[in-house]
Amino acid sequence: MAGMSREKRIVIPHRHRVQKKDRIARYGYRPAILWFTGLSGSGKSTLASRVEEVLFYQYGCHTYILDGDNIRTGLNRDLGFSPEDREENIRRVGEVARLFVDAGLIVLTAFISPYRRDRDRVRGLVEPGEFIEIYVHCPLEVCEQRDVKGLYKRARAGEIPNFTGISDPYEEPLNPEIVVHTHLEDVETCTARIIRYLEEHGYISLSGKVASSESGDS
Ligand code: ADX
Repeated sequence: MAGMSREKRIVIPHRHRVQKKDRIARYGYRPAILWFTGLSGSGKSTLASRVEEVLFYQYGCHTYILDGDNIRTGLNRDLGFSPEDREENIRRVGEVARLFVDAGLIVLTAFISPYRRDRDRVRGLVEPGEFIEIYVHCPLEVCEQRDVKGLYKRARAGEIPNFTGISDPYEEPLNPEIVVHTHLEDVETCTARIIRYLEEHGYISLSGKVASSESGDS
């Protein structure tokens, strides 16, 4: 893993005066990571985009989307699709997402993130309740039929090695907070379910006031 061989450094983090709890008190919702995971073509980006729109416009939340195909052209453009590179991809995204949560945002991430261990590590980076795993479930055959980017065809033809679902594994979440089935439910139905979860669990409210949370002081 990148960084493992570096010498130990002495780093003492500074505790700044404006804390996450202060941001929560001002913004009126609870920041969190909505971690969308699923096969390529399952609908992660489409769904994240729609959920963000609702959170931003209807609930007045500060939001941001981190999306695999976008992040891989910038921050993570040095990474490929080996298990080690995927691990590093998710590690960096997790750290960035943690910063966004600290900044008081609801951050939505859309990465295949095929390995359970990598996803669980991100969960461990933030406070309990701040990582909401959303399994965007869609059978491989349907993703392959959709083949929005034409990559499944190329993977089947042997042009793309280690393609998730074809020649590389996808480890389904064992205990995700939310599961949506994009081959059975349309975008609006899936979105409504995610929004309802956030409301029922006290992350957001249309009144702009959520009960003060137990988290928020880190
Ligand atoms: S992850 O596995 O490291 O989480 P990520 O979500 O960032 O993957 O990127 C996945 C996207 O990269 C896919 O939607 C697809 O467009 C593209 N891609 C290119 N090569 C592969 C591959 N071998 N496996 C999966 N996706 C790939």
